[in-house]
Amino acid sequence: MAESKTDRSRYPSHPAQVRSARHHAEQVLRDWGVGDSTMDAAVYVAGELASNAVRHARTSQGREFGMTLRLLESIVRVEVRDPDPTLPAAVAPGEDLEADGGRGLLIVERLASSWGSAPEVLGKTIWADVPLAFADAGADYSALCAEGAS
Ligand SMILES: Nc1ncnc2c1ncn2[C@@H]1O[C@H](COP(=O)(O)OP(=O)(O)O)[C@@H](O)[C@H]1O
Ligand SMILES: [Mg+2]
Repeated sequence: MAESKTDRSRYPSHPAQVRSARHHAEQVLRDWGVGDSTMDAAVYVAGELASNAVRHARTSQGREFGMTLRLLESIVRVEVRDPDPTLPAAVAPGEDLEADGGRGLLIVERLASSWGSAPEVLGKTIWADVPLAFADAGADYSALCAEGAS
């Protein structure tokens, strides 16, 4: 699958920065011409992963999280990296969305075609693939790709 576009950004690990990451994701995906429904889902996912990176990553080895957005052929991939090596536990299928707490990754699981985590030299990356809505794929995608990789 040819990668068409990538955007990388970094943020201090502070709750207020979750909003910055969401806004940045929205701007980037809009610039890329991603349609509203895909954009909303991807921005939501970015916000949840960023929020987790700020809330749950406990380490003295770095105080930043990074977000990478990739526009691929049929998905937007959202990656959020933090310096804590602890990988999140798998979400149990059929878990209760109404339960208190622990809903973020459940919602990510529902919005993403797949998601997972991968260890890095320092910390880990949690990624999620948000499918391009039918209307966002196809002809639009060829136009987006015509501009080439960036
Ligand atoms: N970036 C992360 N680093 C370490 N642990 C994480 C991270 N993201 C999620 N987790 C773990 O997975 C659990 C579930 O995450 P989530 O569904 O977002 O619920 P919540 O954030 O409300 O606890 C968290 O409580 C935490 O234990
Ligand atoms: Mg969460």
